[in-house]
Amino acid sequence: MKFEEYTGKTVLVTGAASGIGRAQAIAFLENGANVFAFDIQEGNLPTLQKEYPLQFAYAIGSVSVKEDVTRAVQEACNVFGTIDILLNTAGVLDGFAKTLDTDEALWEKIMDTNVKGTYLMTNEILPQMIAHKSGIIINMASIAGLVAGGGGAAYTASKHAIVGYTKQLDMDYCREGIRANAIAPGAIQTPMNQADFAGDGEMAKWVAEETPAGRWAQPSEVANLTLYLASTAADYIHGVVIPIDGGWIAK
Ligand code: NAI
Repeated sequence: MKFEEYTGKTVLVTGAASGIGRAQAIAFLENGANVFAFDIQEGNLPTLQKEYPLQFAYAIGSVSVKEDVTRAVQEACNVFGTIDILLNTAGVLDGFAKTLDTDEALWEKIMDTNVKGTYLMTNEILPQMIAHKSGIIINMASIAGLVAGGGGAAYTASKHAIVGYTKQLDMDYCREGIRANAIAPGAIQTPMNQADFAGDGEMAKWVAEETPAGRWAQPSEVANLTLYLASTAADYIHGVVIPIDGGWIAK
């Protein structure tokens, strides 16, 4: 997808070393944006830096550690100046554990990464967006933020929390030039659910069969929705959660 308006804009993407975050980073790079990536692992980030030496930079750290978040945002601003678009994409799955199978460590890991990480990064960047009276924030929810069955107890709770946080965020700051929305993907083929494809891939086949569209989606499809949602064409879309799930929650 091509959007001319992203040339010269700066996008900060969390979770950009893998899967959906990586696809989002590439989509914005291909559209001329500067992209600052933040992830707990390096993954393919050095490769992206080689491919886009002027448009791309990254920092390693955890979204759930305030000092890491502060340092990353400072670095991003030093390299590219103001951040126009924040994509809170980093997230972890809980292995579909029911509540009695969820110990405190797992609960905290999921909540700290998915919810606290989104809050910390947002609070770090929001003041400069408000100062410029302009900013786009797109949080990564999930079908697990809307219905049961897309994760375990902690993951589903965390994604429902992101849905609520996004609505409140948009309502509180939309008059200050901020537009916040969330995306709720269904079955997207990424390293997060590689276990479904392991062995004979029975689980992956079952998921595809249960999905009305009859297939998994690729991360680039979520990246394309992100390009649209962050654009001026979507200027009146505020505080919503947009499913991209092959019809999963409609059935
Ligand atoms: P992924 O596992 O391929 O990528 C997640 C990235 O987040 C990884 O690079 C990982 O290192 C990073 N990350 C994890 N913890 C972090 C931390 N504390 N600080 C910084 N980075 C951290 O997963 P995928 O599939 O790309 O998921 C991206 C987002 O999309 C997640 O929020 C996930 O919950 C959500 N999602 C994914 C779906 C799917 O089917 N793949 C469906 C619905 C939502």
